[in-house]
Order: sequence, then C-alpha cells, then structure tokens
Amino acid sequence: MARLNDLSGRSAAWLAHLHGVQGVVGSNPAAPTNLKTRKKWKQKQFPNAGQMYTSEKEFWNTVGSTKSFSDPFRIERFTKGLRSDSLIVEYGCGYGRILSLLWQEGFSNLVGFDFAPKMISRGKTESPHLDLRLLKTPFQMDLETASVDGIVLSTVLTCISETKDIQDLMKEINRVLKPSGLLYVSDFLITENEKYRPLYQRDANQFADYGTFMTSEGGKVRHFERSFIQNLMGPLDMIWYEEAPYFTMNLNPIETFHLMAVKGPSQ
Ligand SMILES: C[S@@+](CC[C@H](N)C(=O)[O-])C[C@H]1O[C@@H](n2cnc3c(N)ncnc32)[C@H](O)[C@@H]1O
Repeated sequence: MARLNDLSGRSAAWLAHLHGVQGVVGSNPAAPTNLKTRKKWKQKQFPNAGQMYTSEKEFWNTVGSTKSFSDPFRIERFTKGLRSDSLIVEYGCGYGRILSLLWQEGFSNLVGFDFAPKMISRGKTESPHLDLRLLKTPFQMDLETASVDGIVLSTVLTCISETKDIQDLMKEINRVLKPSGLLYVSDFLITENEKYRPLYQRDANQFADYGTFMTSEGGKVRHFERSFIQNLMGPLDMIWYEEAPYFTMNLNPIETFHLMAVKGPSQ
C-alpha cells in the first residue's frame, strides 16, 4: 500500500481517487482540498488551537463536541452476519453518527455510550430516536454479560491513550459480547510523515507510549503500532483487517486500519 510520507500539494480528492476509498474528502465536507487553502481554513475553523484541557473528557465535552466526524465505516461488512433485531452497541458513540447509519439500514436495537455529556445531548437533539447513554463509569457499560451481538469502536481508541484503560475496555467488550459476537474497530496507525513524526518525537518523553501526543487544540491522542492492535484482540479471533489512507477530524493525512474480530463460540 502507498505510504503517506509525501502528501504536500496533493488533494484529498486525489487520494480518494488513487485508493478508491469512499467519502475521503476530509472530516468536514466544507474543507478546501488544496492543502494551502486548507491551512487557512483550519485556523478560522479551530480558534481554540493551542488551548489546554485538564482531562480528555473535558476536551471531548468542549471543542470535541463541536466537531463533525466522517471516518469511513464498512457497514456492509459489519452487518453481514447480523439480523435487524441484533443488539448493536457503539462505545464512544459521539453524537450517534454510526448508529444513525445503522438505523437507516433497518437496525433498530441500537445503544450508544459516551463519556462526554455534550456529545450525548447533541446526539439526542439531532437523532432523538437513538438510545444514547452517558457513561456513569468509564469502560463499564450498563449491559448484561453476553448480551450484545455487535460492538463498534470507531476512532475512540485514539482518545484513550493509556494501555491499561484500553485493556479495561477490551475486557468489558469481551464481557458484554455474546459468544460469536462481532467487534468492529477503526482507528489511526502511527504515520511517520512530516506532520506526525515531529509530534510523536516532541511528546515521546511526556507519554509512556510512542505515538501519543497533544494536538494543537489541546486534545491528547494516540496512534498505534500494528502489533499493539493485533495483540489487543487477544481472546477474540480477527477475521478481517484492512488499512486505508484518510484524514483526521483536523484534516491531517493519516493511515487508518479497520478490523473485525469475533468472540469464540465457547467463551
Ligand atoms: C473521534 S470521536 C468518534 C465518535 C464516533 N465513534 C464516530 O465515529 O462518529 C470519539 C468519541 O469517543 C468519546 N470518548 C473518548 N474517550 C472516551 C472514553 N474513555 N469513554 C467513552 N467515550 C470516550 C468522545 O467523547 C467522542 O465522542
């Protein structure tokens, strides 16, 4: 697969065309595709750039809850083995974008969890038919053991930088999934281009895991090693894995992965 080390002067539309990825023209459809114009547009769009937040939750409850997300979701793959009444859960559901897509496809047994109150209230306003729930305790979903048919984690691991927290979330996912239940994950890989390498290096002494850094808007995020993601699937069986170039919600070129994993029938 082509690397993204030399993107200067290349538009998002060009990348989309090259890689045949659907809907890849940046997180905000209003964003200019020319990288120079895009920079100016970003400065106008993100006046909070440089502000620091005391916690990840505060970041996602303030600047984060004003964003629009459009990271691709391979809905046909995920829903292939599911029924219209299957219980599908999204952890880190934001304002319910992915659940809305599933709803439009005829799935109605949907539950979303998020730790940012403003994300949930925005979602309830925009999509009042969705069951979006504010988490009482991080990494603990108010759901019966072995009750869920499918779980989606769409660009949420990137917000959870501590390995221990990610492992706690995976344990919780394993608890609530039914035997043969399905997990879909999409997120960001460590991308050694001229945008990210300096940020990884700048913050390498500050955070335990290389690839973790503070964004210009004060959010703490992590990009992942492939091996970390593969190990993370641990007790689940990975049945599909794909990588694709994309842009972050702040319109920076990045490499993403998408995967599906299944809980064993006897677990
Ligand atoms: C980049 S957004 C993606 C939203 C949604 N999954 C989508 O693809 O449209 C990440 C979401 O994860 C939530 N989040 C971040 N860390 C979380 C945590 N530890 N527990 C629950 N939600 C979290 C944020 O509030 C935000 O809504």
